Order: sequence, then C-alpha cells, then structure tokens
Amino acid sequence: MNAGQQSVPIVEAKGAKIPLVGLGTWDLRGRTCARVVEQALRLGYRHIDTAEMYDNEREVGDGLRASGVKRDDVFVTTKIWPSHFAPPALERAARECLVRLRLSAVDLLLLHWPNPQIPLAETLGALAKVKREGLARHIGVSNFTVALIEEALAATTEPIVCDQVECHPFLDQAKVIAACRRHGMAVVAYSPIARGDARNDALLKRIGARHGKTAAQTCLRYLVQQNIVVIPRTGKIERLSENAAIFDFALSDEEMAEIAALAHPGGRMVDWAFSGQPKWD
Ligand SMILES: NC(=O)c1ccc[n+]([C@@H]2O[C@H](COP(=O)([O-])OP(=O)(O)OC[C@H]3O[C@@H](n4cnc5c(N)ncnc54)[C@H](OP(=O)(O)O)[C@@H]3O)[C@@H](O)[C@H]2O)c1
Repeated sequence: MNAGQQSVPIVEAKGAKIPLVGLGTWDLRGRTCARVVEQALRLGYRHIDTAEMYDNEREVGDGLRASGVKRDDVFVTTKIWPSHFAPPALERAARECLVRLRLSAVDLLLLHWPNPQIPLAETLGALAKVKREGLARHIGVSNFTVALIEEALAATTEPIVCDQVECHPFLDQAKVIAACRRHGMAVVAYSPIARGDARNDALLKRIGARHGKTAAQTCLRYLVQQNIVVIPRTGKIERLSENAAIFDFALSDEEMAEIAALAHPGGRMVDWAFSGQPKWD
C-alpha cells in the first residue's frame, strides 16, 4: 500500500471484507489521534480500529471526515466494554459509540473482552439485535479463547466474523487461529509488533535486512502472509507508510518457520484479566 493507492488487500470472512492492514488507535488521544487517522487514510489505510474504552472515538471520527475519504471506503471497528454487556446497556453503549464517531453504523462491532458475569447468550442476543437494527454491519469478538468461540457460535445464528486477539511472533496463538479458520472467522492481530518490541529483535532485523525491510515490517509481513489482519498503532506519521509497506516482498517457508520459533511461554504482552476470566486455550 503506497500513498494514494486505493486498493488494500482484504480478508473475507462470513460476508465481511476486512482490509488486511488497519490502524490501531489505543492510546492515541486528542489532536494527535485525529491527525494520525487523517494521514493514515490519506496514505491508503482503509481500516481503523477503536473502542469505547480508548476514549478517542470522537477524534477517530474527526480524522475520518478530515481525510476526505468516502465513509463507505473505510472499515471502522469499535468495541463494547464488558461492563456494558447486559442487553439494555449494550444497545445504549453501541448507540453512544456512533454518536461519538458521528457515524450511522460501524463496519464491525466487537465484544472487547469476555465477561463471565453476564450470560454470553444474552450479550450475543443484544449484539445481534444491534446488528439487525443497522448500527453495525458485522459483529465479532475479542480476547475469546477457543472454548469461548465455540460457546459463542453455539449461542447465536448471527455470523461472528472475527476474533481479535493478541498475536505476534513471540506468542503462540496456533490454537485460537486454528479455531477461527475452522469456523471461517478472520483473525485480527492486536499488538502485532509486540507493542514495539519487534523492532529490536535480532532475527526479525536479520531477515528484514535480506529483503530491505525493517524488523517491524518483517513482523507484520509474517502475520499478513498467514492471512491474519494486523492493526499496528503508531503516533508517528512517518511510521504509517512503513507499517503498510508489507505487500511487496514475501518471506520464504524457512524464514516463516524461523520467526514462528520466536514464540515462548512468557510472550504475552497484554495480560489484562477481567475478573474470573477463564484460562487461555
Ligand atoms: N482488543 C483488545 O483487547 C486490544 C488490546 C490491545 C490493543 N488493541 C488494538 O490493537 C492496536 C495495536 O496494538 P498495540 O497498540 O497494543 O501495539 P502495537 O501496534 O504492536 O505496537 C505499538 C507500539 O509500537 C511502536 N511502533 C509502531 N510502528 C513502529 C515501527 N514501524 N517501528 C518501531 N516501532 C513502532 C509504537 O510507537 P510510536 O507510536 O512511537 O510509533 C507503539 O509504541 C491497538 O492500538 C488497539 O487498536 C486491541
């Protein structure tokens, strides 16, 4: 993806067409957030990831409008926080997201983290209703284990198009990836450059140098080459192009295997545990 280029590779899952690269916006605030979103869209990004919890939906909406890119050309994801999973609260929260974004619908509405205190079937019923009312074009989940994916699919007939999970070379997510593939769901990788740690990894640097790419680009390529959607975040305009320029080279099978071997038990970066959260896998 280069400046001005309109076509971004996409992943199709249950009718959703999700651009393989999106912009993560966690921790981007105020004018910086609006400016980065605007620039990302001008550079060719067509997928923006936010959440009610990020407290930046207003600025994401501002950036979207300032970019001049047509609304329907951008895939916008937001997420409902687990404290709003009781059905009336979920519908209210979804409407409030849209008010802040100043959009009539988002492309994808996710349950941000599992909440074992509220029956999943009730929450999914509310999510499906929000979709039927036209507030979200697609629905999905985030931070769901394999067991929770199975439970969710059994509890609703509405297509669940993705699981957004932490995913990068330092963390083995093979089980959750396999479950998503089995059910035709997309995997959306959050923290895809391991919160920036990938940039200092010797192997990623070495393999990247062979292809004239940075360690961060090599890390992102490793994921998109497996058809995993990536949503790297940066607050630096100059890194937007770098993080999207990952479709003009390919890693060999041997390089893919070497990178996969970086996974280790302590590799998880995001360890926020909602009370009572079940084990991961
Ligand atoms: N569903 C969930 O529960 C959940 C949880 C976490 C994150 N997310 C989503 O996923 C997005 C991405 O994850 P993340 O923000 O945790 O981490 P990330 O995208 O893996 O890493 C972001 C960090 O990497 C740095 N960085 C970005 N591009 C770089 C490059 N080319 N070279 C070197 N460093 C670079 C950034 O610094 P600079 O800003 O200085 O460039 C920032 O410190 C979030 O923003 C959010 O939208 C979702």
